[in-house]
Amino acid sequence: MTKTFLVAIDGSDQAWKALDLAIDIARLSDAELAILHVVPYEVFPEGLKEFAKGEGIQIEEERARFHEGRTLADAITAEAAARAAKHGLQCVKTHTAEGNAAKEIIAMAKSKAVDMLFMGSRGLGEVRGLLLGSVSHKVMNMAPCTCVTVK
Ligand SMILES: Nc1ncnc2c1ncn2[C@@H]1O[C@H](COP(=O)(O)OP(=O)(O)O)[C@@H](O)[C@H]1O
Ligand SMILES: [Mg+2]
Repeated sequence: MTKTFLVAIDGSDQAWKALDLAIDIARLSDAELAILHVVPYEVFPEGLKEFAKGEGIQIEEERARFHEGRTLADAITAEAAARAAKHGLQCVKTHTAEGNAAKEIIAMAKSKAVDMLFMGSRGLGEVRGLLLGSVSHKVMNMAPCTCVTVK
């Protein structure tokens, strides 16, 4: 049966490296490649929205920022797909999700019965000195499949 690989990309160097490795291995094993970018989206809790309203604070900006995030997501996934096509990979699908990155990556790994998941060990976070970022750490712990973290 055709295997499905998933690569999670956030625009970081490590994630692009993870994509390149996923492309190489997918070509060798005739696997389908799914590419996922999650637009990080933390909604304000309802209680806080009520409070904001009472204070006359506009929180529409949240939507605007999210819109930019979607535009960026389209650009990142298109770039990734172009890279895969350039390397001769036929079966590539791009996906964009929104919300908590680790949660969405794990959900897709489950729903698509992914055989192998690729990601960077670190991403775009500012914290230095840790081997793993919070997303890669959580995904490695919770994913239902083999995870490859790329350095
Ligand atoms: N929003 C995201 N969408 C898709 N993949 C992501 C996202 N954030 C992180 N990742 C994946 O997880 C890897 C590790 O990132 P992360 O744990 O966020 O580290 P850091 O704390 O350095 O940002 C990234 O290289 C990427 O593969
Ligand atoms: Mg990060």
